[in-house]
Amino acid sequence: MDRYVTGAVIRRLREKKKLTQEELADKLFVSSKAISKWETGQGFPDISLIEPLAAALDISVIELLSGEDITNLNRSFNMLKGKFYVCPVCGNVITASGDTVVSCCGITLPPCEPEEAEGEHSIKVEKIEDEYYVTVDHPMTKEHYISFLAAVSDQGMQLTKLYPEGDAGTRFRTRCVRYVYAYCNHHGLFRCHI
Ligand SMILES: [Fe+2]
Repeated sequence: MDRYVTGAVIRRLREKKKLTQEELADKLFVSSKAISKWETGQGFPDISLIEPLAAALDISVIELLSGEDITNLNRSFNMLKGKFYVCPVCGNVITASGDTVVSCCGITLPPCEPEEAEGEHSIKVEKIEDEYYVTVDHPMTKEHYISFLAAVSDQGMQLTKLYPEGDAGTRFRTRCVRYVYAYCNHHGLFRCHI
């Protein structure tokens, strides 16, 4: 099988945690020589060590697999910097208020990078009383459709899941909305500024 972690990642995370090879070895009940071999690519930790290794390095298994430890610097919550993650396997939509490591169906998901909404992904926003009526003039076939619409303010997010053969439209409360997003299952995430 593929290696789930490289020697360079083990060394970097071990040194960041200020552990010696001996100290890490003790935590895992292996020899310090084994750690040295892993870090120099001459050996590889058994898959059964994945959880103990992550615990010893004080990170999650997902962070270990991605080779990075994520420090949440986004302590002042700001949804305008929010991220969308979409699983290509099951279509799950996950939102976060900042950078994170997200995994679904066994895949680590990259955050969607929004493009300016234009062409067939243009987002039309009409204000009707205290709501925005949001539509996208886009196919809604099983193969190619808008799978969700979202409205983001600095306070929070409204998200509507859409389905093939349905309408590519929804209503959002207008309050403080700054961006509207549309996600096409083929072309990715599009955004327009209100
Ligand atoms: Fe599309």
